[in-house]
Amino acid sequence: MNKIMLIYASKHGSSKEYTDMIGNELNIKAVDIDEFDSVKKEDFDTIIFVSGVYASKINKIDKIKNVFNNFKNIIICPVGFSEYNENTKKNIESNFTEEELNKIKIFYLRGAFDYSKLSFMEKMMMNMMKKMLKKDPGEHKEMLDAFDKPISFVSKDNIKDLTTYVKEI
Ligand SMILES: Cc1cc2nc3c(=O)[nH]c(=O)nc-3n(C[C@H](O)[C@H](O)[C@H](O)COP(=O)(O)O)c2cc1C
Repeated sequence: MNKIMLIYASKHGSSKEYTDMIGNELNIKAVDIDEFDSVKKEDFDTIIFVSGVYASKINKIDKIKNVFNNFKNIIICPVGFSEYNENTKKNIESNFTEEELNKIKIFYLRGAFDYSKLSFMEKMMMNMMKKMLKKDPGEHKEMLDAFDKPISFVSKDNIKDLTTYVKEI
């Protein structure tokens, strides 16, 4: 196995939960993205970045993009509430250029939603979204229900494909 750097950015905890699971499984220590600048990148050849998805954007992805060239293997784990489908895939991929997509491997992990934990600004955003979703609830029922009752899809089963892949590179 390569020398791996495990980095996370987590606003409300689910990316951190996944990071702890990944760290335990691969026996590596995780580093918060806010301490990333002080880590010696040249000591590693693989980076795993676990981070929440907000309005289709992977939180703090730009910090990792700045150092793409330092690593042989770049693994991105976006953590979002949406179920994984073609639309989710497209939204996640829109965070990257074609050239970047050729360099990285993406493992989407399903996260959690707890309205009570959100900041004032996030609550405002989500209230606007709720109004829109209510007009066409269809496939958004899970999201609408989550406003009244916190829900988490975080599970150790979800990291299996990622850890199997990492152990083989
Ligand atoms: C303001 C806001 C916007 C969000 N936008 C998305 C989104 O575009 N797609 C998605 O799948 N999940 C979205 N989510 C859900 C988060 O990605 C989910 O809660 C995730 O578990 C957050 O991870 P973290 O707590 O580690 O930051 C959003 C949540 C909030 C509060």
